[in-house]
Amino acid sequence: MAARGVVLASILLFSCFLETCCGMISFSSLQRTLLVTASHRQALLKAGEDKITVTWGLNQSFPAGTDSAYKTIKVRLCYAPISQVDRAWRKTDDNLSKDKTCQFNIVKRPYSNGNQTLEWTIEREVPTATYFVRAYALDANGNEVAYGQNTDAKKSTNLFDIQAITGRHVSLDIASVCFSVFSVVSLMGFFIAEKRRARKSQQ
Ligand SMILES: *[C@@H]1O[C@H](CO)[C@@H](O)[C@H](O)[C@H]1NC(C)=O
Ligand SMILES: *[C@@H]1O[C@H](CO)[C@@H](O)[C@H](O)[C@H]1NC(C)=O
Ligand SMILES: *[C@@H]1O[C@H](CO)[C@@H](O)[C@H](O)[C@H]1NC(C)=O
Repeated sequence: MAARGVVLASILLFSCFLETCCGMISFSSLQRTLLVTASHRQALLKAGEDKITVTWGLNQSFPAGTDSAYKTIKVRLCYAPISQVDRAWRKTDDNLSKDKTCQFNIVKRPYSNGNQTLEWTIEREVPTATYFVRAYALDANGNEVAYGQNTDAKKSTNLFDIQAITGRHVSLDIASVCFSVFSVVSLMGFFIAEKRRARKSQQ
């Protein structure tokens, strides 16, 4: 009984700690120490097909040891301001626990000194919008401590456009539905006409 109480108390304490620790991180408090580049085909990129090559690493202008607390790197695909207008569900919030700018996970892997590269195939779920890429450095507690992005602070350079899968196939789907309805109707018409003719020839 007492043991259970202790466990409960520690869970409560731990969750309080989580609340305070993770609700407090603001984007503006993060240092921009990572260099991030994203290269891709110079065209409208297609979700589910096209690839983006992301490279990240520490900006070497920062003193040695700047990255000593970095344990994990989280790279994400983020909505550019133009694709956030009138969309509360993509809104940027300085409070990172409320921020909805970067909704798509590209990769999460242990931090390692030196540049890292990853070729990522754009996920099929990614909607049509304009994007940039951002990387967060996380400490041992999983809290964001630094970042980098392939665009400037205003999020206006090096943006790229992705076209969703659905947008491309909707017209094709409509065409095939129409075609199916048309074939069912014409088949029915054919049977009815055939029956009538049979009845007439019997009479
Ligand atoms: C950030 O949002 C979380 C969750 O809504 C909240 O608990 C926390 O107090 C907020 N932090 C700041 C600094 O506004
Ligand atoms: C690297 O960091 C330095 C110092 O903060 C900054 O002046 C420089 O612009 C950064 N380099 C790049 C490529 O962002
Ligand atoms: C990492 O990439 C940056 C450019 O993004 C480059 O200036 C730097 O030399 C690279 N570092 C290494 C160790 O390759």
